Amino acid sequence: MSLIIDSKLPNVGQSIFSVMSQLATQQQALNLAQGFPEFNPPSELIQFVTDAMNSGKNQYAPMPGYLSFREEIAKKESEIHGNRLNPESEITVVPGATVGLFVAIQTLVKPGDEVLILEPAYDSYEPAIALAGGKTVRVTINLHDFSIPWDVVKSKVNAKTKLIIVNTPHNPLGTVFSQEDWNALSDIVQQSNAYVLSDEVYEHMVFDGGKHISVLNIEGLKNRCIKVSSFGKTYHCTGWKLGYLSACESMTAELRKVYQFLAFACNSTAQFGIENFMKIPNQWEKNLSVFYEQKRNLFREHLQNSQWKLLPCQGSYFQILKYEGTQEMSLMNDYEFSVELTKVAKIASIPVSAFCENREKTNLLRFCFAKNDETIIQAANILCSL
Ligand SMILES: Cc1ncc(COP(=O)(O)O)c(C=O)c1O
Repeated sequence: MSLIIDSKLPNVGQSIFSVMSQLATQQQALNLAQGFPEFNPPSELIQFVTDAMNSGKNQYAPMPGYLSFREEIAKKESEIHGNRLNPESEITVVPGATVGLFVAIQTLVKPGDEVLILEPAYDSYEPAIALAGGKTVRVTINLHDFSIPWDVVKSKVNAKTKLIIVNTPHNPLGTVFSQEDWNALSDIVQQSNAYVLSDEVYEHMVFDGGKHISVLNIEGLKNRCIKVSSFGKTYHCTGWKLGYLSACESMTAELRKVYQFLAFACNSTAQFGIENFMKIPNQWEKNLSVFYEQKRNLFREHLQNSQWKLLPCQGSYFQILKYEGTQEMSLMNDYEFSVELTKVAKIASIPVSAFCENREKTNLLRFCFAKNDETIIQAANILCSL
């Protein structure tokens, strides 16, 4: 007799990232679908991790992360964002931002609570809310100018709203919260019982002289929020799965209660390696914006004469391209179109509708430009030839 499992996530299938990457491999297509760098972490960082391993730093780390590592994180938070965090009681190292988001949601959301997310949204939010027994309430970002309809957000917040999840710089749209966005959110939160979960994994990738404003910079939010960061994005080491949560002392105490039974601790050698890399006087984080801005510009310059409409990209390492083209093209939804593009033109992307509940036709595709310059030019040339 075969076992029928009563699924807790009946509507969840294989993620679009796996689907498109498999298709890209099968079709020998250029993969600009998955969001990870094509290059290695800095060589000093690799050396520090190797040294940590060779010098016996191979056993369990303390539950919230090594204190000396959290002290370095607190220094960076203060230098770069002006956030003052107590490393002992306000920072918790976790195995990547995805786990951090899961811990935050499990900590705050109880069955029956509502959690508001802004669509298109990163795909781990909704399943994590469902597993905590919460109900996801969606507000769609305006897809013609990428603005957030704060009046709609306000109208959907009620006594059951436990959490509002935001993401800046945004995946997939590449938008960055302005002070006005934060003020609008803060005003809404002040009049509610909600907390804010701020996904800031692309915090060091903001372009054109723009500035990343963290939730922790917002006076009205800093004591009712959790900020999520990822070392994978910052140091080109997404495979190491390391990140951290920042929150006030009472929130951190609750987060740690949950986290200690989820993973208890994370990779000790990566913690030592990154701590030592952070201690070298360098401008890594500041230079990262310039590094990715050049890649964004290269991609955009090579697409100037194409049929694609280039939408603004203020931050992150994603560029949204809009297709209109022939009648045949415009009849396809973005999922069908990205599959077709992978098969015929040999270039893989992610359809923006994959970040939305309803697979409506958005005509928008996400391309990751965290690639070597040759790959970026090759990709742009393919797209221009269409
Ligand atoms: C918006 C967003 N949040 C979280 C994550 C997950 O980060 P990590 O690899 O550290 O789990 C990603 C990764 O793509 C992301 O784009």
